[in-house]
Amino acid sequence: MPSTASDVAVRAEALVKTFGSTRALDGIDLEIPTGTVLGLLGPNGAGKTTAVRILTTLLRPDSGRAWVAGHDVLAEPDAVRRAIGLSGQYAAVDENLTGFENLYLVGRLYGKNKPDARARARELIGRFRLDDAADRPAKTYSGGMRRRLDLAGALVAEPLVVLLDEPTTGLDPRGRLDTWEVIGELVAEGATVLLTTQYLEEADQLADTILVIDRGRVIASGTADQLKAEIGGERLEIVVAEESELGTVSRVLTEIGAGEPLVEQHNRRAQVLVDAGTKSLIEALRRLDADGVVVLDVSLHRPTLDDVFLSLTGHAVEEPAVAGSSKEEAK
Ligand SMILES: Nc1ncnc2c1ncn2[C@@H]1O[C@H](COP(=O)(O)OP(=O)(O)OP(=O)(O)O)[C@@H](O)[C@H]1O
Ligand SMILES: [Mg+2]
Repeated sequence: MPSTASDVAVRAEALVKTFGSTRALDGIDLEIPTGTVLGLLGPNGAGKTTAVRILTTLLRPDSGRAWVAGHDVLAEPDAVRRAIGLSGQYAAVDENLTGFENLYLVGRLYGKNKPDARARARELIGRFRLDDAADRPAKTYSGGMRRRLDLAGALVAEPLVVLLDEPTTGLDPRGRLDTWEVIGELVAEGATVLLTTQYLEEADQLADTILVIDRGRVIASGTADQLKAEIGGERLEIVVAEESELGTVSRVLTEIGAGEPLVEQHNRRAQVLVDAGTKSLIEALRRLDADGVVVLDVSLHRPTLDDVFLSLTGHAVEEPAVAGSSKEEAK
């Protein structure tokens, strides 16, 4: 990798990968400074998993280069594998082994001695709230438990770089929060993380930098705040009891909003984009209250991936047009 190897944990240049007529990656560049989290945000079929597979040496790009922890993924795949932990989109656990045995085995495969492998497995079982299920075969686990076990497996060898492909898809809210916490701890311990997600909120929570990808290309990058600013902040929505009060609501929203309010008479609802989030919400309620308006409902909507897409590409998130639905294993 270029001279700044220790500052940059992952770098990819102009990665291209095609499957038949599908350009899964169409020239992706990325760089992850050591100790930071990059969120790769994109809808189904954007190319997230393809990028992860190339960076983890599971797939060869048609062209382009990549380095992980200072090692060229094509020239030094073994060194790359030693430096990384991967949690794939579909949990890879041995169904017949217990949760504890799965983690113990990974530790042994990575060359830990028996006591160390045991200790590490126990530590991770606790951290991922699998204590009660530790001694049951993984085939009895729920989807969320399996997902957590798989994530734990990626951390057994204390990797420098952790790649997580949609780590919270399929988890319930509690599982999602727990996973966010674990990822936060990883980073606090100095790991570099690449995570893919379809949720802007998740990238917002975890990532220092976000790359938005669509059809194999990077269409935007920046911090969550930069992306939100680019698409116009949050949306404040007010529902009132009386249609006759919409005039007042519209005036107040014009005063505090970042644009023209949109008023829906029949729903007794009005909305406007705001710059200051909760502050704007409180200010709107204060003014409406002072004017004697009865507010039935109020909500603040964060921009979603759909909003980002609509704003950046002019088209909504859509299913990619793909010939054939089966993803045969690529060499
Ligand atoms: N092994 C394969 N054979 C054929 N086509 C593939 C293969 N892997 C990926 N593709 C295609 O490449 C494109 C990108 O797929 P990829 O799995 O990288 O997307 P993704 O962003 O991970 O999507 P998802 O959010 O659904 O996981 C898609 O059109 C997909 O159908
Ligand atoms: Mg994927």
